[in-house]
Amino acid sequence: MTAVRMPSISWRAVLAAAGGTLMLCGCAGNGSAIPENPLGEEQLRPTLKSLQANVFGPICADCHNPSGIGPFPMVTEEDTYQNTVNVESFEVPGVLRVAPGDPENSYLVWKIEGRKTISYDRMPPPYSANPPLTNDQISTIREWIKRGALR
Ligand code: HEC
Repeated sequence: MTAVRMPSISWRAVLAAAGGTLMLCGCAGNGSAIPENPLGEEQLRPTLKSLQANVFGPICADCHNPSGIGPFPMVTEEDTYQNTVNVESFEVPGVLRVAPGDPENSYLVWKIEGRKTISYDRMPPPYSANPPLTNDQISTIREWIKRGALR
């Protein structure tokens, strides 16, 4: 009897191993895809903390820091919040840099999307070392604003 049951257990083991192999294949397939956001797609979330770590800190704060050429600092989450949320743009007075709940009317969005209505350059500017933001980065910033641009 034992001799008959052993093979049955072995088959289960074989099936389990096959399942494991299939899962590994799935992971390898995902891992080989080129991430849209090279700075850490997995951590990119529509929160100030995530955006600061992935976009505002590593890209914008290159210039948007106290000794840089950017007109207001974005070095910390608090900098970014204090200098953008409900703060009027100087380039197009009357338009808020970040209007909570309203990405369409947020000047920061116009700047990163490079709209024709902006003054001066798209952000990050063409002369900077950073390429324009990816669609994923832009849509995540829009989503953060849509959800109320919370701290
Ligand atoms: C290479 C330096 C540089 C980088 C990088 C940069 N900026 Fe700027 N930013 C500037 C300068 C200079 C100005 C003012 C002139 C202009 O608008 O081109 C400016 C202006 C702005 C304004 C308009 C301010 C207003 O009140 O009208 C916004 C909004 C802005 N930047 C957001 C960003 C964001 C968001 C990023 C990152 C995605 C970024 N910038 C990256 C240099 C930079």
